[in-house]
Amino acid sequence: MEVKLFSIELYMKQEPNNRLIKQTCIVTGASSGIGSAVAIAMAAEGANVVINYHSDKEGAEKTASTIDKLSNAGSTIIVQADVSKEKDVERLFKKAKTQFGTIDIFVANAGIQIDAPIHEMKLEDWEKVLSVNLTSHFLCAKLALNTFMEQGVRTDVSRSAGKFIHMSSVHEVIPWSGHANYAASKGGMAMLMQSICQGYAKYKIRCNSIAPGAIKTDINKEVWQDEEKLKSLHKLIPYEEMGVPEHIGNVASWLASDASEYINGTTIFVDGGMTCYPGFSMNG
Ligand code: BGC
Repeated sequence: MEVKLFSIELYMKQEPNNRLIKQTCIVTGASSGIGSAVAIAMAAEGANVVINYHSDKEGAEKTASTIDKLSNAGSTIIVQADVSKEKDVERLFKKAKTQFGTIDIFVANAGIQIDAPIHEMKLEDWEKVLSVNLTSHFLCAKLALNTFMEQGVRTDVSRSAGKFIHMSSVHEVIPWSGHANYAASKGGMAMLMQSICQGYAKYKIRCNSIAPGAIKTDINKEVWQDEEKLKSLHKLIPYEEMGVPEHIGNVASWLASDASEYINGTTIFVDGGMTCYPGFSMNG
């Protein structure tokens, strides 16, 4: 079955929602795929968006030019940073604050996969994935928490002092033997997210994760470009189709808005039912 991407026209046809007006959102890894869709969805709600990228400048510019076409979007800036490096994260926050004054939403999205069976995995590939996928979330959360606590609740824009969203994966609960570094980073992320909620909810800070299933992006193109592999992937998804980045963008913008105010310390799975283990429907 063909996966149809939503289009910018679809956003443009919708009534502007403006749920994030006068708020600023940083999205890491916003030069492609899920990160780009999240940045666009936040902008479609009226937010200013800080588009972070690591190496794909052109991709970041494409995200920005798509946002420019939206009628109600705030402003954008593009900031290069390696979010696994503390100095880079500090620079990212500084640029965002200097440009927009406040930071209200942070989406820690940047992530990588370097796959190998566990008995063959190189230590450097284990460490690289843990540092980009998990340590970066600690570094970003540390600065975001300080920023949100310092700002407090800006009652004219939101009932929360700040919203932190981790981009997780179904592999925070589904073991993945050929990708153990990735699965471990996502499992660790769940505990980081809940620990943040436990400690900082009293400051009216909300921290949640979104766990995408198989979303059609570059990270898994090796699977969806191959008909046989795609067929067997569909067997793992009760909904029998892959998701598209906009599915995640739409959940992220809602999760950043007051419409989801009382949700805190939770992972929202956006996976077409993948975590319902369809292989067990008759057997097991
Ligand atoms: C991974 C994808 C994979 C999906 C389902 C995601 O977190 O990045 O490569 O297709 O999980 O297994």
